Amino acid sequence: MINSHTEIYCIIGNPVKHSLSPLMYNEAFKQLGLNKIFLAFEVKNLKSAIYGLKSIENIRGIVVTVPFKEKVIFYLDSLDETAEKIGAVNAVKCENGCLKGINTDWIGATKALEEKTVLKSKKVAVIGAGGAARAVCFALKRKGALVTVFNRTREKAQKLSDEFGLENAFGLENQDKIKEADIVINTTSVGMTPQENVLVLDPANILSHHIVFDIVYTPSETKLLKLARGKGAKTVKGYKMILYGGLEIFKYFLCLDGPAKVMEKVLVNNLS
Ligand code: ATR
Repeated sequence: MINSHTEIYCIIGNPVKHSLSPLMYNEAFKQLGLNKIFLAFEVKNLKSAIYGLKSIENIRGIVVTVPFKEKVIFYLDSLDETAEKIGAVNAVKCENGCLKGINTDWIGATKALEEKTVLKSKKVAVIGAGGAARAVCFALKRKGALVTVFNRTREKAQKLSDEFGLENAFGLENQDKIKEADIVINTTSVGMTPQENVLVLDPANILSHHIVFDIVYTPSETKLLKLARGKGAKTVKGYKMILYGGLEIFKYFLCLDGPAKVMEKVLVNNLS
């Protein structure tokens, strides 16, 4: 029952109406019998929103999504080491009027991949060099993988490679080199609904020995993953990163383990 003691958690983004976070966390709260609620806020002015949320005592945690993961850092009191290195925050804990940001995207990516393979010494081709790629590259480096980044704008790939100490950087025109990789990860939004028929890679470069991970989770099985599965490659769906990253957020906010099976069921049932 919602009453004057209910603790409030939220996601901020713009747009945010597509977010499955409210369904996922509210189902988890219900399962554990907690007097907490999770809401989605479509934010027009980030600074006013953050200062407003900070000044409300029963707002306890904020999940941050596109396009605020980087900009939000400016309004926080502190960051953990990983959010600092990645340069992006996806969860903010509100405690005694202080806001502390963390990044769990990299943990989500690590756990999603580790369900299928060991990462140490694996050759990984990361497609894209934006914010999501930074979290993925950070995760892979931590686990001792050998990362090469491929990006439409080669200079951005090179910059990321230099900053994170990756193996190499190429433009997408050299994407035939991904054939040598053990793991291929799409971190761009290419293939996301409503443009689910677009492929970021030439099908000829996806081979049966690959493990292909697409961080796009709408549709649940992207065109890239379907293609990979058709070729006999192993695949990792994007929702796994949301699930494992979300379980970390749950633990960070509540100091409790979230009900993983319940949260996964919500995601699977609500993604087509
Ligand atoms: P995010 O934070 O979600 O990673 P971003 O920082 O805007 O978003 O990064 C988007 C990434 O997807 C970039 O690497 C971008 O390539 P550019 O650096 O060349 O812009 C890549 N990307 C977006 N649309 C693309 C497309 N149609 N084809 C290839 N790469 C694309």
